[in-house]
Amino acid sequence: MGLTRLPGLLFGGDYNPEQWPEEVWREDVRLMAEAGVNLVTVAVFSWSRLEPRPGSYEFGWLDRVLDLLHAHGIAVDLATATATPPPWLVRAHPEIQPVDAAGTRLEFGSRQGYCPSSPVFRAATVRLARAMAERYREHPALAMWHISNEYADHTAECFCAESARDFRRWLQGRHRSLDGLNAAWGTSCWGQHYTDWTQVEPPRKAPGPVNPAQLLDWRRFSSDALLACFEAERAVLKEVTPDIPVTTNFMSVLRDLDYWTWAAAEDVVTDDAYPDPADPRAAVKAALGYDLMRSLKRQPWLLLESAPSAVSWRPVNVPKDPGVMRLHSLQALAHGSDGVMFFQWRQARYGPEKFHSAMLPHGGTATRQWRETLALGADVRRLAGVAGTGTRAEVALLLDWDSWWGLEAPESMPSDRLRLHELLLSWYTPLHARGIAVDLAPPGRDLAGYRLVIAPNLYLCTAEHAAALAGFPGRLVVGPFSGVVDAADRVHEGGAPGPLRDLLGVRVEEWRPLPDGVTQEVVTADGTALTARTWTEWLDTSEATEVLARYRGGPLDGRPAVTRRGTATYLGCLPEDPAPLLDGLLTDAGITGVTGPGLPAGVEACRRGPYLFLLNHGAGPATVPLPVETGFTDLLTGRPLPGGPVTVGPRDAVVLEPRPTP
Ligand code: GLA
Repeated sequence: MGLTRLPGLLFGGDYNPEQWPEEVWREDVRLMAEAGVNLVTVAVFSWSRLEPRPGSYEFGWLDRVLDLLHAHGIAVDLATATATPPPWLVRAHPEIQPVDAAGTRLEFGSRQGYCPSSPVFRAATVRLARAMAERYREHPALAMWHISNEYADHTAECFCAESARDFRRWLQGRHRSLDGLNAAWGTSCWGQHYTDWTQVEPPRKAPGPVNPAQLLDWRRFSSDALLACFEAERAVLKEVTPDIPVTTNFMSVLRDLDYWTWAAAEDVVTDDAYPDPADPRAAVKAALGYDLMRSLKRQPWLLLESAPSAVSWRPVNVPKDPGVMRLHSLQALAHGSDGVMFFQWRQARYGPEKFHSAMLPHGGTATRQWRETLALGADVRRLAGVAGTGTRAEVALLLDWDSWWGLEAPESMPSDRLRLHELLLSWYTPLHARGIAVDLAPPGRDLAGYRLVIAPNLYLCTAEHAAALAGFPGRLVVGPFSGVVDAADRVHEGGAPGPLRDLLGVRVEEWRPLPDGVTQEVVTADGTALTARTWTEWLDTSEATEVLARYRGGPLDGRPAVTRRGTATYLGCLPEDPAPLLDGLLTDAGITGVTGPGLPAGVEACRRGPYLFLLNHGAGPATVPLPVETGFTDLLTGRPLPGGPVTVGPRDAVVLEPRPTP
């Protein structure tokens, strides 16, 4: 089965008909059909229009919307509408509004204003989800359920008294006793020993740094508290409409939610991605997010929201140049999305997002935006065969949310410059530039099938993580400041990398973070000079450990910087560009890019099923060397191409299907 029961790729966007008079709806569906839209997300923020008074539902308008869409062949990703509680609920129960770390209760007037732990809020969402499910269970337009919206957006955590109670319950489940909690949190430090559960509170704003172990549990709890909201609605939807897939839209590489756990609770992974057109690294950051989405359930996913052009929430909202919407959309398909969806269908006339771009802009159909929307719809139809196909990656980057949360504890680390997203990007960027497919994986996952596994950082490392990595037969790379603490953020005694010491054959004596702007030279055994920034380590090596690179100059002069034991490499520093090390590893592991060596700068190459996507993000044409023996058809133009080099125009793409040799 595809992501939904619809054939081919999905194309469409968020549709907010409640912001428009009904005569506009008829024009909407006519234009949607013209553009080839086959799926729209409806009712995301409609709670106050669907249940304007407690328990009194007004479904008439939504019935008409769904009927109209269905009559025009458009299916619906139906939101449960629970992302924003209505005014009556907030006024009757002000306690459902979230409280920030400083104790300020946030006011009504925006969106996603709720305390995830509020029983009143959760009960009200479940009632509405049930009413929606019962109302639309038989509706032929219903293709997918969209629970809430972007969990953790605006409100990732709430520090109110109800959240505190819920946190205590969660802690009792994890630590069993107060003694267990005191031990895990190391409360003997700074006089925090608890003698009664009621003394335990969320890590609110305090005079100085809060207990990092408490903060780590808080981040785990906050992800779980939101997940409980999702699961409560999901249970109702599964009971009433067991065959309709359920999703909630993720936000790419997001620290707040442990997406491994979340994805397991979903039928379909969907993502909202808003690469900034003004960011030179936009394409590579987007690609990393898409590969994460594909890896979460190891199946195709769906780009559920993206911007046709400018967003409205950055300080400066740069539009997409001609061709960029198409290129970014094809990029998501190349990385495993089974469709291209936008926020939103028709540009709003009012509200905070009235300047956010849309598939159909304020200017109507006589606009570049609309022409590009139509053309993209046609491209998406040409690529129907891509739906459901997979990606085979030989490289995995490890990502663990516990470790991420621990690493980014404020005011208590050797350096606050180690940011996991950047560390992932430092490896992902050269892999992406070489056209090498990459999966993301949690450290405990079965890694069989990969030839190279890179853990850019594994600050928090348990014995189970270490055992999984020790059992991995391929090439392993572990980045600095790994194996530092256990699951409770307690330092592994004997020195980092703790449970990875034997595997890696190194012991860290000292962390030596570098101030901003300071660099340290590192020289490989063959004389290649690398520049390290941000971080260095004083390493001791065991006898069986080979030194691949040493520091040159400075207090670490001559000491090991990069080591290898067996097939496991350890980096005690952060090279500005790890490419020279990476190339050696790739050669050893026998890994090449999907087009072989020689991918021009700015070109992205991805294989999906039998199809080869070549995406040129650059401003000039680029020629990609391909094997001469295979002929191709470019699915976007229908053009047959002989084997050999293919030239891709600036901000253009080709999607090549190999032609059988006669
Ligand atoms: C997110 C939200 C949408 C909208 C867009 C704007 O994706 O889910 O409701 O606000 O951002 O970019």
